[in-house]
Amino acid sequence: MLDFKKIISHAKEYGFIFQSSDIYDGLSAVYDYGQNGVLLKNNIKDYWWKSMVQINPDIVGIDSSIFMHPTTWKASGHVDAFNDPLIDNKDSKKRYRADVLIEEYCSKIEKKIKKEIIKAKKRYGEKFNEKEFTATNPRVKSYNDKIKNILKRLAKSLDKNNLMDVKLLIEELQITCPVSGSKNWTDVRQFNLMFGTKIGASSESSMELYLRPETAQGIFLNFLNVQKSSRLKIPFGIAQIGKAFRNEIIARQFIFRMREFEQMEMQFFVKPGSQKKWYEKWKERRLNWHLSLGLNKENYRFHDHEKLAHYADLASDIEFNFPFGFKELEGIHSRTDFDLKSHEKFSGKKIKFFDQKSNENFTPYVIETSIGLDRMFLAIFSHSLNEEKLEDGSSRIVLKLPEILTPVKVAILPLVKKDGLSKLGDKICKDLKWSFNVIYDEKDAIGRRYRRQDAIGTPICVTIDHQTLKDQKVTIRDRDTMAQERVKIKNINEFIRNKLDFRKWLEKFDS
Ligand code: GAP
Repeated sequence: MLDFKKIISHAKEYGFIFQSSDIYDGLSAVYDYGQNGVLLKNNIKDYWWKSMVQINPDIVGIDSSIFMHPTTWKASGHVDAFNDPLIDNKDSKKRYRADVLIEEYCSKIEKKIKKEIIKAKKRYGEKFNEKEFTATNPRVKSYNDKIKNILKRLAKSLDKNNLMDVKLLIEELQITCPVSGSKNWTDVRQFNLMFGTKIGASSESSMELYLRPETAQGIFLNFLNVQKSSRLKIPFGIAQIGKAFRNEIIARQFIFRMREFEQMEMQFFVKPGSQKKWYEKWKERRLNWHLSLGLNKENYRFHDHEKLAHYADLASDIEFNFPFGFKELEGIHSRTDFDLKSHEKFSGKKIKFFDQKSNENFTPYVIETSIGLDRMFLAIFSHSLNEEKLEDGSSRIVLKLPEILTPVKVAILPLVKKDGLSKLGDKICKDLKWSFNVIYDEKDAIGRRYRRQDAIGTPICVTIDHQTLKDQKVTIRDRDTMAQERVKIKNINEFIRNKLDFRKWLEKFDS
């Protein structure tokens, strides 16, 4: 993986991601997707949507509005509880999330553990057993105990809204401000993350609204509509992809934490009592979905929550090894019947499912899978970008995206413009464009054109040369191996299609 700064500048240089309102010096934590970024993003959406809605007969999709009745957020608990604990450093005047400062402190201890493991690996060589070492080495054990105790205390204090203790913990750990280096902190305060706005023309008739901070509530509010119109029986799921908005206090790390972002969420409605079984199943299914894209198992890990959100009885994150370490990529929550019950109470409408088999009415429990589309983009993009040394001593930057997600699937490159090669290239392009995103490029030497395609991840380059005119065959060059093979023009379409077959990608991981 390349250095994070290089990843960000590559994303800009090659039309993947731009800072929003760039010409006005940008808007903090808001980003735009460029000509290649939008294609990659749409392909990620498509891969998720197909895996949820298309191949599961018991899951349907919806697209609900961003604006929702304001009582939604009172009922969901977001008005009262969707807060981050913030703290200011009096010297630098910088604002931080108190919990993140403490978690970052723990990450530093984790790094120390890693160093101990590397040292021990070197010392013991082949005989080294990491599990045993971590469980028995006194230093590593004490580091792990320290992390556990800190996180436990943090979870307890946040749960009880004991903000004084959170500050005390920061002081006890002697955490300093990364900018000023001082320990001169304010008290910790709660800060609501929702953006408010108004609907309506006049000040008397206008209504205060929020921009939705999660897409999930649109699903809960439509539970009855979907269940009745689809006649689906429990267990069943509703999926949706859409924008969400949060006034994040710390907005760093590029598109990892944004103020406007997209979520891909699925709520699976189950019988009360069966939630644990479904929670485990969805944990496994979602990890398999990630693994199907081929970014190595070691880059993922589960992190079970100590501190549960106000609506959950079980929760786990799938964490990914981002350029800045393991961080949350997706959340899997057992949300109990909290949301449906609460909307029932606030709306006065009965929100229940009638089970004909057992002849009983009940409020379904919910298992939620929730992944940030932009985070998924960052995970894939950062891991796919590599710098490789070539045999001739030169190097190349190559974006080894999973083929099924690449913005462009094939580039058509006539070796020279003359002798009818351009014309033939144009013809092949016009034929392939109905099936795939195609680029036609006849400028510069062929090596430079290959590099341009490597940089945006195009998996296949088709070169047309003089021999093509004679045998109707082109050279197909593979992005990753750079191996070349001759393929008949009439077989190019099938050759590419084979690499992009959704079933081949997902089927072996479908649990
Ligand atoms: N409905 C549950 C929910 O919204 P969450 O853990 O707050 O849970 C789910 O968010 C996912 O949304 C996260 O795992 C993350 O991938 C993404 N996400 C959350 N806040 C984000 C932000 N500010 N910027 C980008 N992605 C974000």
